[in-house]
Amino acid sequence: MPTGEAVDRLRPHVAGGRVLEVGVGTGRIAAPVASIAAHVTGIDNSEPMLEQFRAKGLPGNVELVRADFRRPLPVTGTFTAAYSTMGSLACVSSRSELTRALTHVRQALEPGAALCLEYYSTATYRPLVDLHTLTVPTPDRPGTTTFTVTLDDAGILTMDTRVDEDGKAPVAFGEQVLLIERDEVQACLARAGFTVEDVVPAGEHEPYDWYTARADG
Ligand SMILES: C[S@@+](CC[C@H](N)C(=O)[O-])C[C@H]1O[C@@H](n2cnc3c(N)ncnc32)[C@H](O)[C@@H]1O
Repeated sequence: MPTGEAVDRLRPHVAGGRVLEVGVGTGRIAAPVASIAAHVTGIDNSEPMLEQFRAKGLPGNVELVRADFRRPLPVTGTFTAAYSTMGSLACVSSRSELTRALTHVRQALEPGAALCLEYYSTATYRPLVDLHTLTVPTPDRPGTTTFTVTLDDAGILTMDTRVDEDGKAPVAFGEQVLLIERDEVQACLARAGFTVEDVVPAGEHEPYDWYTARADG
């Protein structure tokens, strides 16, 4: 979802708090959240992503920690809220790995703290799996972008992207995420010790559902 809209949704949970972002990336969300939270800790296992965030100029109340959310988080103290946008927590290989990652997040939270989570929407991605390959004009560039999407029996969605820009060598990259139904995401949250308060389904063609959950006491 666009940055401004995501920050508006996060605002009531993060304002004035000690906040954790899981999969902080280059700080697209953490930078504006830092202007309304007391402190933001951003974790990510990709040093190049963290380096890009540092290169933009880190707000004084932001701390970056290189860590893998599939293992217990090396953070001190507890947080009053956590969030994870753009499906970062879907970068797992199974439902049990997702539950473990969510458990690590819950262990870093105060009882009652909110977790806001953007997670891949099956309503949006299953039709792409059926299409298998989709080629569209690249926005703002001469040429096309081709997406090839497959889903295996374990729910692993593989998205390969190839950008063909006129007069240049093609650029290809891929990613894999766990694509599971909404009730399964909710079950993983419950097993990890969260109570789901609200789910906002993705709008048409939007990639992510938005979950709001609370850490159990
Ligand atoms: C799509 S980006 C989202 C970045 C940011 N949340 C945003 O909305 O702009 C996903 C991020 O999750 C991070 N990530 C993926 N797997 C991870 C893991 N196992 N542990 C920590 N971070 C991970 C990636 O390195 C990447 O920076």
